[in-house]
Amino acid sequence: MQLPSPHRNALRVGLLGFGVVGSGTHSVLTGNRATIAARAGRAIELAMIATRTPARAREAVSPEIEVLADARDLVQHPAVDVVVEAIGGTTAAREHVLAAIAHGKHVVTANKALLALHGDEIFGAARERGVSVHFEGAVAVSIPIVKALREGLAANEIEWLAGIVNGTSNYVLTEMRDRGRSYEEALADAQALGYAEADPALDVDGGDAAHKLALLAAIAFGGGPRLGDIHVEGVRHVQAADFKHAARLGYTIKLLAVARRSSRGLQLYVHPALIPSNALLAHVDGRMNAILVNGNASGVTMHYGAGAGSRETASAVVADLVDLARARDSGFPPCVPPLGFHEQTGAQRIAPMASLRLRHYLRISLATPSAAPEILRALAIHDIEVEKYTASASEAVLLTRPTEEGRMAAAVSALADLPSVRGVPARLRVEDLVA
Ligand code: HSE
Repeated sequence: MQLPSPHRNALRVGLLGFGVVGSGTHSVLTGNRATIAARAGRAIELAMIATRTPARAREAVSPEIEVLADARDLVQHPAVDVVVEAIGGTTAAREHVLAAIAHGKHVVTANKALLALHGDEIFGAARERGVSVHFEGAVAVSIPIVKALREGLAANEIEWLAGIVNGTSNYVLTEMRDRGRSYEEALADAQALGYAEADPALDVDGGDAAHKLALLAAIAFGGGPRLGDIHVEGVRHVQAADFKHAARLGYTIKLLAVARRSSRGLQLYVHPALIPSNALLAHVDGRMNAILVNGNASGVTMHYGAGAGSRETASAVVADLVDLARARDSGFPPCVPPLGFHEQTGAQRIAPMASLRLRHYLRISLATPSAAPEILRALAIHDIEVEKYTASASEAVLLTRPTEEGRMAAAVSALADLPSVRGVPARLRVEDLVA
């Protein structure tokens, strides 16, 4: 395929970082060069890379690509139109992104933590300077969910969205369920495969999913990223026994990120939940991600794809570069303010977590085999109706009817105090919206 000419109109890219995302971006940009140029209407050239390990990058890239050791030189370099931030973390990334914007560069990033924490500042600076910040790779990497919400579903009032948006924790849960592997083993694998964050606690404790939910909710519901409003629970406490009981009851367990309109405001939470085994999301396994979006005109749409990986993230990063390259021809300023961060003003009211009303799964270790009457009485005192109750000599497992969160928390404390109960019961919520 012939490259469009003239080449002097190429979009010139400066890449910050040469790790998982940076090297993937180089690989996709160079490997698919001709197709990308044809689609973008101009060449997209990787002009330079700044990395703390320049020798390694020099070995991996062609000599025309300049490799710098200092990101500060790249973000102000006149030969760079767009800065791709692929260094991760939030401190240096924030500094370099703000510097790039101040120097009039567009920015592409897959850094969800950066935008969830500093999105208002970064998008505000970009708006003032008249440049764009694109972030398709920040949520569920290869899935074009940012575009889907901003473009394909733009006509809708979004009722709710729910998704599996962390590849690492989904990989860990799948390995525990299907191969009986330990949590530790599965997590070590996910790290070796390059899925996990530098600090994997962000994956397994739900922080990474919360960062992505903050971005999704900002686009879908407006009001900016509200990380502090998200209730976050991770997967560390999910045990092999929970998968076994869930399967017997017709469920599987997934870490879900949920944003839902309710009469009390916007509900925002990340939690490991039981979902029906026949739900579409129940079949999203390993590092894969999927997001369901319920629009008031579209109905439910499902968006599925790889949730982690080097070239998978690069697919989204390069798509953002293609958007920028195309925008140059449109005659409009290329600034594409991210819908949700600025266009939709007015903060959303956030529903208190205590008002969430879902069904619950409880696994209770028993000190005495005949604990049922005591347990059922304690639940009844808290107005909790039980839908299913099964017990062996040492363990009771039950599903409740929909119960307010606050009431459930109080009931679990009461159960833990019963003489017939050992320790604190394990509790997981049941999500029916994904059925
Ligand atoms: N650590 C992230 C995940 C990478 O496992 O989903 C992609 O955001």
